[in-house]
Amino acid sequence: MSMLIRKMTSGDLKRVLEIDKISFSLPWPERSFQFEVENNPASRSWVAALDLQVVGMVVAWFIVDEIHIATIATHPDFRRQGIGEKLLLHTLKAAKDEGAITSLLEVREGNLAAQAMYRKFGYVEDGRRKGYYKDNGEDAILMSLKNINDVLEAK
Ligand SMILES: CC(C)(COP(=O)(O)OP(=O)(O)OC[C@H]1O[C@@H](n2cnc3c(N)ncnc32)[C@H](O)[C@@H]1OP(=O)(O)O)[C@@H](O)C(=O)NCCC(=O)NCCS
Repeated sequence: MSMLIRKMTSGDLKRVLEIDKISFSLPWPERSFQFEVENNPASRSWVAALDLQVVGMVVAWFIVDEIHIATIATHPDFRRQGIGEKLLLHTLKAAKDEGAITSLLEVREGNLAAQAMYRKFGYVEDGRRKGYYKDNGEDAILMSLKNINDVLEAK
C-alpha cells in the first residue's frame, strides 16, 4: 500500500466529513470544510490517501508567519501507523516553504493522544482557554511550536 499526501479537494469532502464526525464530539458542518477548500485563501488543507482511500485529513490556516493547525484527524481504523505525524510534518514543511516560522493550535485538555503527538514535534503548552469546548466545558490547551525549522531539521 502506498501513502500519499495531497491537497484536499471538493471531491474529498464526503469522506473528510465521515472522518471528522467519527473523530470529534463537535464535528464541523459541511459548509465549513467547503469554505476551507473552495473559498478561504488562508486555508492549507491536505488529505492522506492510502492507495485511493482517504484515511486522514488536516486543515491549517496560514497567517502572516504562522501556521495554525485548525483540525487534524486520522480515521480510527488507521491510527497509530504514523499517518497523523506525516500529515503534520507535511503541513509544517509546506508552511515553512511559504515563510511560516511558528505554529499554534488548541487541543482539549483530555486529548492526551494528540498532545503526545504535538509534544513529539516540540510543541509546548503556552496557556489555556477555560471552558472553551461547548459540549462539555473542557479547557483548551494552547500549544505552540516556536521554530518550525528546528523540528524539520531534526526529522
Ligand atoms: C491525534 C491523531 C490525529 C493522531 O493520529 P495517528 O495517525 O494515530 O498518529 P501517529 O500514528 O502518527 O502517532 C503519532 C504520535 O502521536 C501519539 N499518539 C497517537 N495516538 C496515541 C494514543 N492513543 N495514546 C498516546 N499517544 C498517542 C504518539 O506519541 C505517537 O507516536 P508513537 O506512535 O511513536 O508513540 C488521532 O489520534 C486522531 O485522529 N484523534 C482524533 C482527532 C483528534 O483528536 N485530533 C487532534 C485535535 S487537536
